[in-house]
Amino acid sequence: MMKGLKKWRLFSLLAVMTVFLSACGEDYISTLTPAGPVGKEQLNILLLSVAIMTFVVIVVSVIYLLAFVKFRRSKVGENFMPKQVEGSHTLEVIWTVIPIILLLILAVPTLTATYKFADVAAMDEVDEEGNKTALTVNVAAKLYWWEFEYPDLGIITAQELVVPTDEKVYFNLIAADVKHSFWIPAVGGKMDTNVDNLNKFYLQFDKESEGLKDGVFYGKCAELCGPSHALMDFKVKTLDRDAFDAWVASMQATEGNTADANSSNAGEAAFANSCLGCHAVSAVAGAGIGPNVTTFGDRNRVAGFMDHTVEATTEWIMNPEENKPGNLMTGKYNVTEEEAQAIAEYLMTLKVED
Ligand code: CUA
Repeated sequence: MMKGLKKWRLFSLLAVMTVFLSACGEDYISTLTPAGPVGKEQLNILLLSVAIMTFVVIVVSVIYLLAFVKFRRSKVGENFMPKQVEGSHTLEVIWTVIPIILLLILAVPTLTATYKFADVAAMDEVDEEGNKTALTVNVAAKLYWWEFEYPDLGIITAQELVVPTDEKVYFNLIAADVKHSFWIPAVGGKMDTNVDNLNKFYLQFDKESEGLKDGVFYGKCAELCGPSHALMDFKVKTLDRDAFDAWVASMQATEGNTADANSSNAGEAAFANSCLGCHAVSAVAGAGIGPNVTTFGDRNRVAGFMDHTVEATTEWIMNPEENKPGNLMTGKYNVTEEEAQAIAEYLMTLKVED
């Protein structure tokens, strides 16, 4: 009976593990399917360390099993005294030198890659006309959302990072409140975002996100930052250079856009009265108190993780605290359910993509 129960427990544990691991290997989120050179090199280091660990486990297990089998009392007798090797010079040298060699094999590529990924000298390079040659994005992590500013292009967005493929994109990372961490599992990272110092690194996106399951890479906050840490997601849209330039031009064209409190569109009017103070509808507006919503209709999720529908948006506007505990939108405005739905419908019309 007990044996059967143990087997059943082992089986259910394995079944649960299978469910968790079934997400592994999905190309929009998995570190095992890297979509750029940084992710590839990080995966190689991971594989190297796993290989070294496997080697150590095998060697130790083999020696253990050999000793176990060879020196059984039934085999060598009651009074057998094995050869005493205490203080053996040869053995001491062997088990000191081998770990040192293993550590060196691991340390050299790890340190080399660490310094390479932190090389952001190209961030400040300019062409003959004084324009920056590399794209830089300022990432600001806030409880519990992400702001992406393109300082050299004069635009800002939130929750969905848009970047060109096949070139290095440089990131300035900072946090507005507590420590968070910026991670795009399939492309590279993670890098902490701190409150009082700027972290810098680069990533390269070698694959257009259009062919992925949701048309985007998934980004995560990788530092426990509060009750909604697990919901602090963002998405990454990667476009070829021409499509990216077109996106930037449409973003710049939203300059001066605003919502009219006297609009005949009930959603726009309610938005202007209750939301506009924190959420800008122009990408040229600068940093906001809340996420910029200029591209709300183009996005893939609402609040980073909810379905991108009018119903989910209405639910989010009515009950932010239940959906994302500890977020800063809670209690900042007062709208009826009807107004919330009108606002949600209006938000879905805010787009810069076709
Ligand atoms: Cu932000 Cu975890």
